[in-house]
Amino acid sequence: MRLIQDYNFYHKKVLVRVDFNVPIDDQGQITDTSRIDLSLSTIQKVLSDQGAVILISHLGRPGKNALHRDTFSLHQLIPYLQHALGMNILFAKDCIGPDTIHQVQDLQPAQVLLLENVRFHPEEEQGDPIFAQSLAILGDIYINDAFATIHRKHASTYTITNYIQDKFAGCLFQQEISNANKVLANIQHPFTVIIGGNKIDDKLPVIDALLEKLDTLLVGGGVANNFHQALGKQIGNSVVAHGQEEIARTILKKASDLQKPIILPQDWVIAQELAYQAETQIVQGDDILSGWKTVDIGPSTTQLFQEVIAQSKTILWAGPLGIFEIPAFSHGTQDILAAVAKATQEGAFSLIGGGDSATAVTKFGYRQAVSYISTGGGALLAYLANPQLPVVEALHKSNNQASI
Ligand code: 3PG
Repeated sequence: MRLIQDYNFYHKKVLVRVDFNVPIDDQGQITDTSRIDLSLSTIQKVLSDQGAVILISHLGRPGKNALHRDTFSLHQLIPYLQHALGMNILFAKDCIGPDTIHQVQDLQPAQVLLLENVRFHPEEEQGDPIFAQSLAILGDIYINDAFATIHRKHASTYTITNYIQDKFAGCLFQQEISNANKVLANIQHPFTVIIGGNKIDDKLPVIDALLEKLDTLLVGGGVANNFHQALGKQIGNSVVAHGQEEIARTILKKASDLQKPIILPQDWVIAQELAYQAETQIVQGDDILSGWKTVDIGPSTTQLFQEVIAQSKTILWAGPLGIFEIPAFSHGTQDILAAVAKATQEGAFSLIGGGDSATAVTKFGYRQAVSYISTGGGALLAYLANPQLPVVEALHKSNNQASI
């Protein structure tokens, strides 16, 4: 893999695939800027070499929802990016096409052009070769600094590498891979994995692959609803990914065959609506009232999880355990963060991954109290389950293997 430190980008037009998929509140404010902040070194390296930077990113999952285009526009990031880099940032209203080509032609050394959300084109997620070529022709060189997206075989993360000869790993990409490799090379046991949050269809296959490596799996958040459903329990109106019952059952069976405990919530905090003033109740695991939904793990579950964490030597956590943005639903996530911080202080290695989890760590003041915070959630889990991910392999591919 070629590293950007070993190259001089003088007068090159450099495509930099970043993951600027950051949380943005109703007022348009970015609530956690870390994914942007951590990509600055890569951008600054190209600029200091007098190269021009063309930033490619996605933001959210716009799908076909053209009505909400503004919500997913990367234009919202310009004020913060200008502040962080201390310079003017140019913006292309589409990531491909003739207007964008003209903007790139006019781009001067040490300037930055941010392209609009690549996911406004469905071809991005399809990994479409024609779309990838339309992106590739914009630059001389490609840098991948989007670790949080390495599990997506998309046009701008994977297919594009077939159409551009010079490709490099950015600083954040390198730092994340090297940290994950350290964990893989030397997992100290007991190894506890904590999984929460949503994106359930991404997480279940990875849990399946991680079962061999871990000692105990603690499950909360939306993912736990799927396991409860697979066990035939009542989950009321809780968030659940449909069509995942079979894989959830397979995981439970495999864990039992391997004698790896999967600890699901014994009790829950439930609410009828996701609102600050919502009435809450604490109920047992198989007792979610109809019309109510799980919003946090309950106190008995928190205690059980804390006991496992206290014994752990390696802790990997992806996905919050409740809807921590609302204070009444945040206790599980906060208490488990405190337990992970204490275990870390006592010598465990703790690795926390994912946009929402990183936001929770920052919000509750634990950034210095855990060993490493990854920008990747699904990406980190996928890499730890199988480091030979296509996006990573594509960066290793030698230049003369590229198609043009
Ligand atoms: C993430 O937030 O995990 C990455 O940006 C990938 O986003 P995605 O799950 O929508 O592909």
